[in-house]
Amino acid sequence: MSGSVFISGSTKEEKYIEVLPQIKALIEVEDNLIANLANISAVLKEVFKWHWVGFYIKEKDQLVLGPFQGPLACTRIPVGRGVCGTVASENKTLIVPNVHEFSGHIACSSLTNSEIVVPIQNTSGAFELLLDIDSIEFDDFDKTDQKHLEALAKIIQAVHF
Ligand code: SME
Repeated sequence: MSGSVFISGSTKEEKYIEVLPQIKALIEVEDNLIANLANISAVLKEVFKWHWVGFYIKEKDQLVLGPFQGPLACTRIPVGRGVCGTVASENKTLIVPNVHEFSGHIACSSLTNSEIVVPIQNTSGAFELLLDIDSIEFDDFDKTDQKHLEALAKIIQAVHF
């Protein structure tokens, strides 16, 4: 598949409903994880215009920066530290409406004000990697984002884990 995704909807929900099948079609014909994560970051950034969209991949007791779109980011985060490290240890989605109030938040970019982090698990339910999305708006993520991004995590699981 080449070129751009096609999105006609204007609400966040409509955009997710259109983009997820396109991402699924894009990644299920490729078995390289890094290539697929790179395209997923690009598509989400293009459609939703968030400040930063990317992946951190578990490597022993650390998270290592994976494919992303946006400003440069921390390359390694210890499991248990910051929003991402907390998601890696608790293995569940975290929505942070105001990152400045999250104890231990790691500020990769001073422009980030809210954040959602979604774990991607293998078929046994174990944590493998995460999707991190940062916004310059406060309180930019809600249950709609959680529902669709967790569905995206399942699409990634089905192809790779
Ligand atoms: N803010 C994250 C670090 C990753 S960057 O935002 C890209 C955290 O506290 O885990």
